[in-house]
Amino acid sequence: MTGYAGGDGQRMRAVMRRFSQSAVQLLAQLLPPYPMDPDFASFRGIEEQGRKLAERSRNDLLHVDSFPSRPTHGRRILRFFVNFNPAAPRVWRTGPPFPALAEQYAAGSGLLRRALHPSLGQRLGELGHRRPAYDRFMLAFHHWLKANREFQSAAHPTWEFPPGSAWLCFTDTVSHAVLRGQYALEQTVMVRAEGLQAPELAPAAVFARLAARAV
Ligand SMILES: [Fe+2]
Repeated sequence: MTGYAGGDGQRMRAVMRRFSQSAVQLLAQLLPPYPMDPDFASFRGIEEQGRKLAERSRNDLLHVDSFPSRPTHGRRILRFFVNFNPAAPRVWRTGPPFPALAEQYAAGSGLLRRALHPSLGQRLGELGHRRPAYDRFMLAFHHWLKANREFQSAAHPTWEFPPGSAWLCFTDTVSHAVLRGQYALEQTVMVRAEGLQAPELAPAAVFARLAARAV
């Protein structure tokens, strides 16, 4: 457990463990065809609206997920959220899905080429946590989308998740941002490619097709 400042954290650890175990169990029951590797769980206790964060860390800018410290190697990022705020909804915004975004921006932004042919500096920066081209692309794309003013300022739908609601999202496909909300729990699982029902829609498959076209 990291980021907890309230003493020895024994109770918090127990709460998080119970949530994490129930969430993983629920996902396995709901989605039996998917082989899943449980990843981290998180407690989101800070009001999202008006947070002062560096651009790359901002949750209120549309993006598809990619974790700087944990390459997925082509597995899908599936996240389960619970809004347990007793009174206020958690409000999201969503943009186009990854296949459409990649088709529109991957080549023109130069990110596809840079992911396939990284510079020496980039390779040195990756020492110790080597990334396949796919993960290199996804992380760069995450940063690029957040920095793209035109994309961010376009009209995109918003969603309100009421108190007590739970929802699931492939956050590597659905571009998303959280606009406001406080007190949510989240469990991440990595879904391995072999169990996917529509493997051709997985971001790694989309990336492979774009890469083949670029070559
Ligand atoms: Fe995200």
